[in-house]
Amino acid sequence: MSRRIVLAYSGGLDTSVAIGWIADETGAEVVAVAGDVGQGGEDLEVIRQRALDCGAVESVVLDLKQEFADEYCLPALRANALYLERYPLVSALSRPIIAKHLVDAAKYFGADTVAHGCTGKGNDQVRFEVGIGALAPDLHVLAPVRDSGMTRDKAIAFAEEKGLPIDQSKRSPYSVDQNLWGRAVETGFLEDPWNPPIEDVYSYTAPPGATSDEVIISFTGGVPTAIDAKPVSVLEAILELNTRAGAQGVGRLDMVEDRLVGIKSREVYEAPGAIALITAHQELEDLTVERDLRRFKFGVEQRWTEIVYDGLWFSPLRRALDEFVDSSQHHVTGDIRLRLSGGSAVPTGRRGDGSLYDFGLATYDTGDTFDQSLAKGFVQLWGLPSRIAARRDLKSNG
Ligand code: ARG
Repeated sequence: MSRRIVLAYSGGLDTSVAIGWIADETGAEVVAVAGDVGQGGEDLEVIRQRALDCGAVESVVLDLKQEFADEYCLPALRANALYLERYPLVSALSRPIIAKHLVDAAKYFGADTVAHGCTGKGNDQVRFEVGIGALAPDLHVLAPVRDSGMTRDKAIAFAEEKGLPIDQSKRSPYSVDQNLWGRAVETGFLEDPWNPPIEDVYSYTAPPGATSDEVIISFTGGVPTAIDAKPVSVLEAILELNTRAGAQGVGRLDMVEDRLVGIKSREVYEAPGAIALITAHQELEDLTVERDLRRFKFGVEQRWTEIVYDGLWFSPLRRALDEFVDSSQHHVTGDIRLRLSGGSAVPTGRRGDGSLYDFGLATYDTGDTFDQSLAKGFVQLWGLPSRIAARRDLKSNG
């Protein structure tokens, strides 16, 4: 059997050309593997067939939506993962699941190398290669766009020369990466960070308008389990909120982002379901998680998010932090009512079995059970170290 290489295949120009390019360059047979992480768009069977038409010896498409929702989006939701406090890690979550299935395919098809179509400027090359290395340290990696001069112009020339079935007229002027958790749009006129995004950039969200919607999201132990009292899986929750929050323009982001490779890049995102779910989850944690645990978790969330952004999904630290996050979620049970309108998801009500909110302690009206006489001594002792230090400082300054 000749040598085999597994290629992460998307169906687009670059990876379609990469099939023949890699075969020419290495003499190996190319196996195309495409994963459905909810990116929508073309029919996967069409994509599978295109890889064969471009010269792949085997071509598989995998439905990864359920696994992506349960094992990647859900941990991100429980960690309230927002890189730079805004970006819900859309692409950073899909690369590790794809890496995992590339590694599985390499074993299954007897390949010694995995190839991807990333450039050398982004985070995705890091996520693929570090992920693959963490799962199968002996697999080799090939990146023709980055390492063997497969530029856009050469790719187009190659496709024409070989008569590859690629319709250039359907190409988007942007670089888009999308999945269940959201959509990332880069390049084109957006490379000037002063240029505002035009409506054409968006597809998961409608322009924020005058309409509104209201939704009740129920969580059980930090897992979304019902929407408007109808039981849902995590996947169904994301899909429904992508539609409903998307219709109200929720989850549009326009930001300059620090990539791991050191570049600042202008990114436009839309992640209606992710933003609605994270907003609701944070709100329910405020109600149900004990004070010190909640405060400490903020730091864990940020570290978790940076690790995943930086391509270290399959790392001991991410696994350990996930155990912390899991143990913080036991009581995150209850309902959040969100108002979806004008591009925002705003919590307007919260309740639940896990609630730590005590009306008797909180009220300023009749029914107050809080013993205010205890506060006097508490405040004195709390401020004691500051008072002692102040006395010393006044003495030494005076
Ligand atoms: N900047 C984002 C990230 O690093 C989005 C990357 C999108 N990838 C792409 N190939 N267009 O997660």
